[in-house]
Amino acid sequence: MQEVTSTKLPPGPKPFPIIGNLLELVGHKPQKSLAKLANTHGPLMTLKLGQKTTIVISSADLAKEVLQQHDQFFCNRTIPELVVVGNEHEFNLPWLPVSAQWRNLRRICKSHLFAYQILDANQNLRRKKVQELLANIHNGSLNGDAVDIGKAAFKTSLNLLSNTISSVDLADPNSATGRELSKFVHSILEVGSCPNLADYFLVLKKVDPQGIQSQMTTYYGKMIDLFGNIISQRLLQRKTFGFIRNNDMLDTLLNINEENTGEIDKTQIEPSATLEWAITELLYNPEVLSKAKAELKQIIGKGNAVVGSDIDRLPYLQARVKETFRLITPSGSAIASPDASIWENPNSFKPERFMGSEIDVKGRNFELILFGAGRRMCLGLSLALRMLRLMLGSLIHTFDWKVEGGFKPKDIYFD
Ligand code: HEM
Repeated sequence: MQEVTSTKLPPGPKPFPIIGNLLELVGHKPQKSLAKLANTHGPLMTLKLGQKTTIVISSADLAKEVLQQHDQFFCNRTIPELVVVGNEHEFNLPWLPVSAQWRNLRRICKSHLFAYQILDANQNLRRKKVQELLANIHNGSLNGDAVDIGKAAFKTSLNLLSNTISSVDLADPNSATGRELSKFVHSILEVGSCPNLADYFLVLKKVDPQGIQSQMTTYYGKMIDLFGNIISQRLLQRKTFGFIRNNDMLDTLLNINEENTGEIDKTQIEPSATLEWAITELLYNPEVLSKAKAELKQIIGKGNAVVGSDIDRLPYLQARVKETFRLITPSGSAIASPDASIWENPNSFKPERFMGSEIDVKGRNFELILFGAGRRMCLGLSLALRMLRLMLGSLIHTFDWKVEGGFKPKDIYFD
């Protein structure tokens, strides 16, 4: 979606006074509402969200035109109010306009943090966390406990990221601080993903009717304290005689800072939601689950641990992850919903559609742009893919899964 100011606009549903088309998007499945509206008004559509005029693109061809050919006009993001309250837009890479500062940060991230050699070098940090996840699930299974895959995925994703970044567990259920931190990150994600009325009605900016801005101000303060403490501790450790540098991102950034060239960026926790979907879909598609298990058994061998370098030899697992990406709808994606003109049986879960296919998620195929495309494309793509494939491959390979509580596919699927 892109906010606009022009008067010559594409078609769209008739807006109500003041609220515009906001009611059309109320509910748990805005992606479905958008797909329905696009069926009526076309792949280029105007929506009035309160006072904001927004253009929605719902076709791969148009997404390509906007994100590839006219990228220079669309590459700056609309800044939400909750970002403004923390002044995030002044220093945080995703909110910076395309500028020398943004280019410099992106270059540092690409060459020093997310480069293949770097991610290879710190893969042990992630492997250790996945082993812990497997051990926890194993212990739980001995007592017959059900696994809350959403919680487990969230905790492991957070720890995988925090270990890759700074070699610490941010979500440690055995410590009061860990539990508090986990709750705190949850709250940030919850508040951050809640539609903020102040974004749609200028007059509400100062009123903050949902309390979103004030909550975020508190969270930003806590976050800065938290990262500040981690950085101070590391700076002290680095001065200690005999200190061995980690391969984590914090050391890399501090090394760059010593040379006076870098800044620290924040991160996203999206892989946890993707993993939860991936496992849920598998449980409702036993055939896919057994094919994925068979591939892992054949390539990795029973009882052996999955490691990052195995993933290239697991085409079915890769196809599975792409199929999950196709089904979940990201914020920021140009595609409103699984589209019947692009995908055969768009709502059925069929990793086979990607077997032998050249389509990937790296911004070249506009029917699958979960990570965006063009110059603002996701920087954490390689890390996110590695985390997701490693967790998913390990979980499928190590355990036999079944659903607790008698839920049916219709309870969770799109329609
Ligand atoms: C499944 C996991 C993830 C998904 C689906 C995802 C998706 C996205 C999307 C859609 C964008 C906007 C792209 C655009 O505007 O064209 C984005 C931007 C970004 N992502 Fe991710 N992301 C994920 C994980 C991560 C991780 C793990 C990190 C870092 C540790 C990260 C860092 C970033 C950054 C820094 C940007 C802003 C880039 C810029 O504005 O130049 N992402 N991501």
